[in-house]
Amino acid sequence: MTSTLLTNIGELVTNDPDRAGPLGAVEDAALVVEGDRIAWVGHAADAPAADAAVDAGGRAVLPGFVDSHSHLVFAGDRAQEFAARMSGTPYAAGGIRTTVAATRAATDEQLLSHAARLVQEMLRQGTTTVEIKSGYGLSVRDEARSLAVARQLTEQTTFLGAHVVPPEYADDPAGYVALVTGPMLEACAPHARWIDVFCETGAFDADQARAVLDAGEAAGLRGRLHANQLGPGPGVRLACERGLLAVDHCTYLDDADVDALRDSGTIATLLPGVEFSTRQPYPDARRLLDAGVRVALASDCNPGSCFTSSIPFCLAMAVREMGMTPAEAVHAVTATAAAALDLDGADGVGRLVPGRRADLVLLDAPTHVHLAYRPGVPLVAGVWQGGRPVV
Ligand code: NIG
Ligand code: FE
Repeated sequence: MTSTLLTNIGELVTNDPDRAGPLGAVEDAALVVEGDRIAWVGHAADAPAADAAVDAGGRAVLPGFVDSHSHLVFAGDRAQEFAARMSGTPYAAGGIRTTVAATRAATDEQLLSHAARLVQEMLRQGTTTVEIKSGYGLSVRDEARSLAVARQLTEQTTFLGAHVVPPEYADDPAGYVALVTGPMLEACAPHARWIDVFCETGAFDADQARAVLDAGEAAGLRGRLHANQLGPGPGVRLACERGLLAVDHCTYLDDADVDALRDSGTIATLLPGVEFSTRQPYPDARRLLDAGVRVALASDCNPGSCFTSSIPFCLAMAVREMGMTPAEAVHAVTATAAAALDLDGADGVGRLVPGRRADLVLLDAPTHVHLAYRPGVPLVAGVWQGGRPVV
């Protein structure tokens, strides 16, 4: 197996809990990649010999970013809806149906090439692991083919048939839940690892969400939830009661929600691109972190509520608007985001320690702080995925 030494690293963010500091950072560092794995990490002066060497030029190296929440399988865009919001029209989840119509009309090839382009866009910005949801098909055929497309791009696929009730079931939401938990789940489960529900007024209530999660878990999928995005609601507490790994959005939380998150260990995944694009208040990351809640950040890349694919942009917003330190935000898009996808095990991602997958980001900057300090600047100078240079 070929080994490569990456040396002269100004700051190496390892997220190794056995090293000092919030990010286990090593200065004047080096790292050895062997095959698709990290083989060695330490000070450059102690580095072992390797087959090849790459000089990082004193720049920072971080774990590849993990985007644990995206909706990349869709057709069309909703730029006009965004423009209307910027002149005062509020965001409404009903806009999802516009994308459903466009997605149903698109071919599999169109859906795949569009989603693949977005995955490439993410990769260029440092995202080496991405979760992709269905949710713009909302029929047995269109959800199943959305997931078949997603599965060609990632192993982290999520069945989101319970996104909204499609127009043809407007008068029969119970019938739609029966479809989602029956034939649609049967067609989709082979393509999915996770099951998600949009638990929100105007989408699905707590009982419906429970029914969908019960059915999904019985089919071998693991649950996640969209909750407390547009207003207070029962979704976050439901996620905590069920011991879900993560609950996403968490914008409107009361004290009981925060206590439940802390006590259950469920990760709160915050999606600040949504609040940027809907002009809602940003979620209060500081309150959650101070309460002892684990916080991840993700893009939620989708054509309606947030059409950014950029983790660096989300990270910068979280630092500027949500009270996170740059180190907390970097941890939230690497190790904690990996944990939100159950990828934080010894052979997982999100930390640069021996045995983990060699997914790395080289910044055109000396430290991780620059990601928030220089917002909007394309600082990602190189990306390795599974030990291979891809950017
Ligand atoms: O995560 N919250 C629900 N679903 C998406 C929005 C989808 C859309 O507006 O098209 C989200 O924000
Ligand atoms: Fe979402």
